[in-house]
Amino acid sequence: MAKHIQAIRGMKDILPQQTPLWQFLEDSVRAVLSRYGYAEIRMPILELTELFKRSIGEVTDIVEKEMYTFEDRNGDSLTLRPEGTAGCVRAGLENGLLFNQVQRLWYQGPMFRHERPQKGRYRQFHQIGVESFGLAGPDVDLELILITARIWKALGLQDLQLQLNTLGTAAERSQYRKELMSYFHDCYDSLDEDSRRRLESNPLRILDTKNPEMAELVAAAPSLMGHLGDESREHFEQLCAGLDAVGQAYLVNPRLVRGLDYYARTVFEWVTDQLGAQGTVCAGGRYDGLVEQLGGKPVPAVGFAMGLERLIALLEQTDLAQRLPGIDLYLVTVGEQAQREGLLLAERLRDAMPGLRLISHCGGGSFKSQFKKADKSNARYALILGDDELARGETGLKPLRGEGTQQQVKISELVDLLNARL
Ligand code: HAM
Repeated sequence: MAKHIQAIRGMKDILPQQTPLWQFLEDSVRAVLSRYGYAEIRMPILELTELFKRSIGEVTDIVEKEMYTFEDRNGDSLTLRPEGTAGCVRAGLENGLLFNQVQRLWYQGPMFRHERPQKGRYRQFHQIGVESFGLAGPDVDLELILITARIWKALGLQDLQLQLNTLGTAAERSQYRKELMSYFHDCYDSLDEDSRRRLESNPLRILDTKNPEMAELVAAAPSLMGHLGDESREHFEQLCAGLDAVGQAYLVNPRLVRGLDYYARTVFEWVTDQLGAQGTVCAGGRYDGLVEQLGGKPVPAVGFAMGLERLIALLEQTDLAQRLPGIDLYLVTVGEQAQREGLLLAERLRDAMPGLRLISHCGGGSFKSQFKKADKSNARYALILGDDELARGETGLKPLRGEGTQQQVKISELVDLLNARL
C-alpha cells in the first residue's frame, strides 16, 4: 500500500469532535460583533506580495522570514495572507468603503506564517479580525476593547489580562527611535545577536525581546511615553479614563511594541498565563497611517485580531465541550415497514421541532447493531420503532445517558413529550 500523504507541518485538521467548540466560539464572537453593529467582509486568501511588504513593513519577522510567497503562472508574486488588516484596507480602498464614512468591519479565516510550530503557534492558524475606519478619537479604541471583554464574558473566559501601550505618532516615534538607537549603541557589547541585527533596522523591536539576559538592559531603556506630544498623550489618557470609568482593569506595558509596523498610538494585547509561551490570544491597535501608505487619503483606523487556536486551547481547559448540546435522538427501526415509516416519522419530527438533532439509522442491520451505533452517537435518547409498535401507533423512547428506562409513547404524543424532555 502507498504511504499516507501527511498534512503540512504546522497545519492542522480540525476534526469533527473539535468543531462543536469552534462553532460555539465563532457563533459567540459573531453574535457580539453584530450587537455592536459590525458587518462582515470576506477577502481573498491570496494577495499581491507588495501589499504585505508595504503595510506590515519590510523589516519585520513576518515579511522577512515568515511569508508563504510564490510566483503564479503569470509571474506575479503572490502571498498567502499572514494577517487580515492589509487585505481589509486594500478591499476598503478598492471598493470605496473608506472615505468620508465610518466602517465597522470584521472578517474571519485562515492566516499563514512560516513560523517554528509549537503549542499555540501554527503555520496555518485562524483569526477573527475587527477593524473600524474613519474614527480618530479614543472612544472607538475603548469600544473595541469593550467588545473583546464582552466576547470573553460570552465565552466564559476569565483571567485574561489587558495590556496597553501607546506608540505615539510616526513623527514622535522617529524622534524616540533616534534616542533608543543611541542608548543601545552605548551598550552594544551587551546586546544579543538578534538585537544587534534589529538595532539599525527596527530598534523598537529590541524592547520586545524574550531573552531574559536582556531584561535589565531593556528595562532601563528610555521610554516612549516621555516622547509623546500633547495630542498623543491626551488620546491615551482618555482611553485609560474610559477604561477606568467602565471598571475594566488594564496594565500599561511600555514594552508592548507589536510585531507589525503599521501601528501608531494605541496598541493592546490580551494575554493569559495558561498557554505557556504563546499567551497572547488577541492583539491590535490603531493604524492611522496605513490607508494613506497603501495609496488612499488619510483615514484613521483601529482594530484587533484574535487567535482562534489559542482561544480554543483555553476553552478546552474548561468543561464547556461537555455542556454543548449534542445529538438528541437516534432512530432505530426493526422491520421493513418500520424502516419506511421511520424515515417519514423523522421528517415529521424535524418539521415540528426546528431545534431537534436527530440521526435516522441508515444501512440496515440487526436491532443490536443499530442500538450499538445509537449508543456510540452520544445521542440522549434512542427512538425505537418496530413493525409491532407501528401497528399500535407507538414508539419506544430509551434514554441512553442514564436517565431512566425505556418508555412506550403514542406517536401522536411524541412531540409534546420530546418538547418537555429536551
Ligand atoms: P498579530 O499580533 O500578528 O496581529 O496576530 C493576532 C493574533 O493572532 C495573535 O495575538 C495570536 O493570538 C494569533 N496568532 C498570530 N500568529 C499565530 C500563529 N502562528 N499561530 C497561532 N496564532 C497566531 C495581527 O495579525 C493584526 N492584523 C491584528 C490587527 C487587526 N491589528 C489591527 N487590526
